[in-house]
Amino acid sequence: MAQAPTIPLLSPYKMGNFNLCHRVVLAPLGRSRSYGNVHQPHAILYYSQRTSKGGLLIAEATAISDSTTLGYPNTPGIWTKEQVEAWKPIVDAVHAKGGVFFCQLWHAGRVSNQDFQPNGQAPISSTDKPLTVEGIDGAHFTPPRRLRTDEIPQIVNDFRIAARNAIEAGFDGIEIHGAHGFLIDQFLKDGVNDRTDQYGGSVENRCRFALEVVEAVANEIGADKVGIRLSPFADYNESEDSNPKALGLYMAESLNKYGILYCHMVEPRWKMTGEKSESPYSLLPMRKAFKGTFLVAGGYEREDGNNAIAENHTDLVVYGRLFLANPDLPKRFELNAPLNKYNRDTFYTSDPVVGYTDYPFLEDTS
Ligand SMILES: Cc1cc2nc3c(=O)[nH]c(=O)nc-3n(C[C@H](O)[C@H](O)[C@H](O)COP(=O)(O)O)c2cc1C
Repeated sequence: MAQAPTIPLLSPYKMGNFNLCHRVVLAPLGRSRSYGNVHQPHAILYYSQRTSKGGLLIAEATAISDSTTLGYPNTPGIWTKEQVEAWKPIVDAVHAKGGVFFCQLWHAGRVSNQDFQPNGQAPISSTDKPLTVEGIDGAHFTPPRRLRTDEIPQIVNDFRIAARNAIEAGFDGIEIHGAHGFLIDQFLKDGVNDRTDQYGGSVENRCRFALEVVEAVANEIGADKVGIRLSPFADYNESEDSNPKALGLYMAESLNKYGILYCHMVEPRWKMTGEKSESPYSLLPMRKAFKGTFLVAGGYEREDGNNAIAENHTDLVVYGRLFLANPDLPKRFELNAPLNKYNRDTFYTSDPVVGYTDYPFLEDTS
């Protein structure tokens, strides 16, 4: 006999056409183990370990095209037949265990380096202002080239094709990566976007590119299969806005027009240092404005995740580092079991096992 759920995180939820058995979502987590931008068989085990029946998983940031996307080495892509084929057994493994799997579609924009670009060209962005910070392992970023207005439809189209490829690979849907200072965020935020065309200036203009991507992707695969991730309050990758609340609200309200499945927002307390900090802001106005399923991420643990659901501040809670280190996180939350600690040193190393598929399950440790 089925047991009644004991905690809000473990209660079922109907997300559009998907019947989720619980609210504990795997965050998109880039792991830099896709050699040559193609997923390797070790990813089958990694994702399958983190799958539970009726659980939602969001795959790591996945590059949409060769020319302008690759901000980091060994990130997976989804623009070639080979990449699509490499995703298939991973998606199959997640489905075999009853998981619901979304692919995060990503364009790094200026968070890149000319070594990753064809012909050593400059990365593209909304701006030609360079980043002043350094990347992982001290990688430096090449000053970007500002996209011409007439080039923007091509990038929108790249997202559209990538979404189609994701469905071809078997994914249940896609998440547009509009967060963390990558290309879409470089358009959204007035601290970066200094354009004078219809893609810059007012909040409406700065959101135009993001919404064109939403529309194109929704038309291609169906709005019921589309989510978007946004981080209006974050300043990650030097992408900051002078009025993040207005920006977040404008996006939440505008997304309603397209009827997309979900809006996934990063908590204001999740700052660039990658740690929790106090913030006077809240996602509540955006949660109230958006009519679809709402997801929150950033520094959540068991107790505040339960509270967020119990207080109806969100529908689902997304877990990054805790899920990375605890493949059976929903089970551990259910039992209130102790958690494995994550090891930051192996987040982005390329080993196919260490720090990737070797975090123990509860039954291995008890
Ligand atoms: C190793 C690592 C890789 C990440 N990769 C991505 C990514 O590919 N896409 C993304 O939107 N966020 C990425 N993030 C951010 C997480 O999805 C999440 O928002 C963040 O870790 C905060 O949640 P947490 O406190 O539960 O870890 C990454 C975080 C970590 C630690």
